[in-house]
Amino acid sequence: MIHELQSRSANALFEPAHAGALSALNRIVMAPLTRNRAGPGLVPGPLALTYYAQRATAGLIITEATQISASAQGYAFTPGCYTDNQVAGWKRVTDAVHAKGGSIVVQLWHTGRISHTSFQAYGAAPVGPSAIRANSKTFIADGGFVDVSMPRALTLEEIRCIIEDFRFASTRAIDAGFDGVELHAAHGYLLDAFLRDGSNHRTDDYGGPIANRCRLLFEVAIACAGAIGAARVGVRISPVSTAGDSHDSCPQALFEHVVTGINPLGLAYIHCVEGETGGARDSIAFDYAALRACFDNAWIVNNGYDRAMAIDAVASGHADFVAFGRAYIANPDLVARLEQNAKLNPLLAQSTFYGGGAHGYTDYPTLEQQSASDMLLAATST
Ligand SMILES: Cc1cc2nc3c(=O)[nH]c(=O)nc-3n(C[C@H](O)[C@H](O)[C@H](O)COP(=O)(O)O)c2cc1C
Repeated sequence: MIHELQSRSANALFEPAHAGALSALNRIVMAPLTRNRAGPGLVPGPLALTYYAQRATAGLIITEATQISASAQGYAFTPGCYTDNQVAGWKRVTDAVHAKGGSIVVQLWHTGRISHTSFQAYGAAPVGPSAIRANSKTFIADGGFVDVSMPRALTLEEIRCIIEDFRFASTRAIDAGFDGVELHAAHGYLLDAFLRDGSNHRTDDYGGPIANRCRLLFEVAIACAGAIGAARVGVRISPVSTAGDSHDSCPQALFEHVVTGINPLGLAYIHCVEGETGGARDSIAFDYAALRACFDNAWIVNNGYDRAMAIDAVASGHADFVAFGRAYIANPDLVARLEQNAKLNPLLAQSTFYGGGAHGYTDYPTLEQQSASDMLLAATST
């Protein structure tokens, strides 16, 4: 056992902390949330600036998943971090978050087989570890939700290019003013699809035994750490989630190998989705304490946490940080609300989650705005 649990005060969730080189005003993290509102050229626009700046009191913001290259795209209107215009768009966002004292990392993804021919040059097939189609949907520009396309298996030369694309995007992320990057190795996207025997049937050095299936993630992590510093790189995993048609015959052994292999690299953090993403936390038995024990640096947990669970997770040492997803869609001032044990805003319709404009994105009120409008209502009704 490498890591020993460290118990803390009940208030620790609200106190400053570090994850590698990332400094956080508190241990509350905004989870990555795809919102499909990038503008032309997949550039984050002014609304994204407002949205992230509104949430800058989070200890750490992890952005929506962001492409490392054009062919990494799998959904409509998701931003990139590889062109000058995208970098300039993100720079405006990171400046706004930093001006408010916040920290922000970009979640980098290659969607792999969770993609569609309409996102690929010349309508080509998307790529994955193997030519196995995921039983999953994606959202395309003209057609709404459709089945993902049949992928083709990457060649060894293409794998080397993808490692380089991750490295390049991480350097562009620093150009864009991000404090670091989170590698998306969850939810069935490319890095996760390589890890699992349900989607990886390769017979070369990147398939077969667990050590081979982990190779791509390790090589990507080493490349990004070499480019921007290990203490600015985190990794997100979702060991038992079936999101993106993810399956593995032995997730405990697989993810203990993943975390044990990442540990010596000195990365800032591991971000672990516990249970079925957005669903049951205990869908499949999994020993998260054993996984956490394989890692020395910061441990972020996510999925279905409420205030009491988050306070307890940090105080008991189960986690160093707790990430909130849906609560952060609806509550720009989530930290203040949790601190004051105030009521949370309910989520608006799911149709506002993925795509659209300001409604359901930047128009959720803060406590301050709510009490000002309550006072106005009281004054006008007397
Ligand atoms: C609208 C929406 C978009 C999401 N986008 C991403 C994403 O881009 N990357 C990711 O790793 N997870 C994504 N997730 C999963 C969340 O980060 C989180 O794991 C999930 O909502 C469970 O946490 P919660 O119970 O606090 O909401 C998304 C979830 C939602 C609801």
